[in-house]
Amino acid sequence: MSEPGIVMERSVGYLLSFVVVLISCSTAKRSNIVLFLTDDQDVTLGGITPLRSTIELVANEGVTVVNAFATTPICCPSRSSILTGLYQRNHGVFNNSLDGGCSDSVWQQNLERDTFAVALKKANYTTFYAGKYLNKYGEASVGGPQHVPPGWDDWVGLVGNSRYYNYTLSINGTPFHHKDQYLTNVLSSYALDFLDRQTLYGGDSPFLMVIAPPAPHQPFTPEPKYKGVFRQKAVPREPHFNRANNSDKHWLVRMQPSPLPLKTIALLDHFYASRWETLLSVDDLVKEVVEKLRSVALLDETYIIFTSDNGFHLGQFSMPWDKRQPYEFDTRVPFMMRGPGIGKKSLSKSPVALVDIFPTLLQIAGLESRPTDGRSIIPIAPTGNRTLIFEYKGEGSFQVDHSCPWDDLNLSHCSAEACCKCQDVTNNTYSCIRSIADPWVDFLYCRFEDNESWGEVYNMTEDPYQLNNLYPLMDSREKQYYDSLLSQ
Ligand SMILES: *[C@@H]1O[C@H](CO)[C@@H](O)[C@H](O)[C@H]1NC(C)=O
Ligand SMILES: *[C@@H]1O[C@H](CO)[C@@H](O)[C@H](O)[C@H]1NC(C)=O
Ligand SMILES: *[C@@H]1O[C@H](CO)[C@@H](O)[C@H](O)[C@H]1NC(C)=O
Ligand SMILES: *[C@@H]1O[C@H](CO)[C@@H](O)[C@H](O)[C@H]1NC(C)=O
Repeated sequence: MSEPGIVMERSVGYLLSFVVVLISCSTAKRSNIVLFLTDDQDVTLGGITPLRSTIELVANEGVTVVNAFATTPICCPSRSSILTGLYQRNHGVFNNSLDGGCSDSVWQQNLERDTFAVALKKANYTTFYAGKYLNKYGEASVGGPQHVPPGWDDWVGLVGNSRYYNYTLSINGTPFHHKDQYLTNVLSSYALDFLDRQTLYGGDSPFLMVIAPPAPHQPFTPEPKYKGVFRQKAVPREPHFNRANNSDKHWLVRMQPSPLPLKTIALLDHFYASRWETLLSVDDLVKEVVEKLRSVALLDETYIIFTSDNGFHLGQFSMPWDKRQPYEFDTRVPFMMRGPGIGKKSLSKSPVALVDIFPTLLQIAGLESRPTDGRSIIPIAPTGNRTLIFEYKGEGSFQVDHSCPWDDLNLSHCSAEACCKCQDVTNNTYSCIRSIADPWVDFLYCRFEDNESWGEVYNMTEDPYQLNNLYPLMDSREKQYYDSLLSQ
């Protein structure tokens, strides 16, 4: 008696999936993707404030994701996470050096052949990359600028780390040196040229663009027309700024001098202003690309994402200037996105990590993603729960600054300019759980690999500046539980 009913349900099911297939075929034109990836741009210290056009053209036309994180707050490992969707522990790129896996031959032979570009290229996307890639890209021992990573049709790769002048670009494998052309503007002209060619010869195939300007990375060099525009700006004097007593923090943060001397504070304020000035050229770049998309009638079918590889600090907890720490200023990143189906001026508190970019881009392209440590952020949820892992491996010295008195090879990034307060050390090696269940729960649990068995825990809903380390108050069973999550 029940047979016909079952058959009926099945055929309804088949019919429904058939309808779904028809619908997805009839809207067959797949969306284009433009990903802007800045370098070391904080969000917690006001890093997006100078981007007026970007806010108007991307955030106000789409969504601002307020809980976006880098899971490893340092360039090369974070960019490797973006390209692969994997945590550091799964991609094995541990620092910005070749021996740490940055753009080395192991990377080139394995994960570089499995980036989102390779997947989208296989699905007939036309792909374009311009700007900083991985810090060791272009080194002679790993193929030099002749090496063009697979998956990219148009390759404008910056050799080495961020610079504003006097740099080499690999143009599809041929090196070109530029002495006095401001890099952000050069990237803009390559991007606009690519868009012109898409409209002339692109046919129906969608495109993927990644545009990765050097700003606001050190040496913080603004374009001449913007130099001094923000000279009145200074690092916000928030509760953690130049905090003198950091005895609740791990070894590196406890290094002296604390607070920082006035001379260093003046330098931090100057860096802060210069960083904003470098971002004005990024804002022009975004505006030029969006206006070009509009003028060739492609804007409505294009997703635009704006984010950064990691945050930055200037004087918080009396640390000079750098990233690499598990705190808010280094792990939180700007994240704005517009595109088909995304409501204007929306705000999402749903936690997002840079490992989500891989599955998100594949979803936009209509592809099934291989397993990653992320998840697609489309459809954008207004709120959500998430448990993320943050991890970092501290660097030891590879350049001893002889003007500083230290001879400990576990230290690194120590300079007289930063009053010999080092910015990294091998025991700055940590893994953390960041757990968010909006709006009730938001906490950070970190364990350091050092000889102090150091732990730090912050209740972010009550203590947004991370002034009270709750680890000493936590009971041992709770610690065991979180430690077991970290070792999975
Ligand atoms: C890509 O293009 C090839 C050749 O035109 C075609 O056979 C293939 O089906 C296309 N693949 C996708 C995913 O559109
Ligand atoms: C330009 O870069 C080259 C090689 O990277 C370097 O040797 C040279 O000193 C730089 N020139 C300036 C003016 O910075
Ligand atoms: C620093 O803070 C800790 C804990 O809050 C306190 O025990 C210690 O006395 C303080 N040290 C100084 C030098 O004020
Ligand atoms: C980079 O990482 C590798 C692998 O973990 C390590 O051997 C090397 O010492 C690291 N480099 C620095 C400067 O710490």
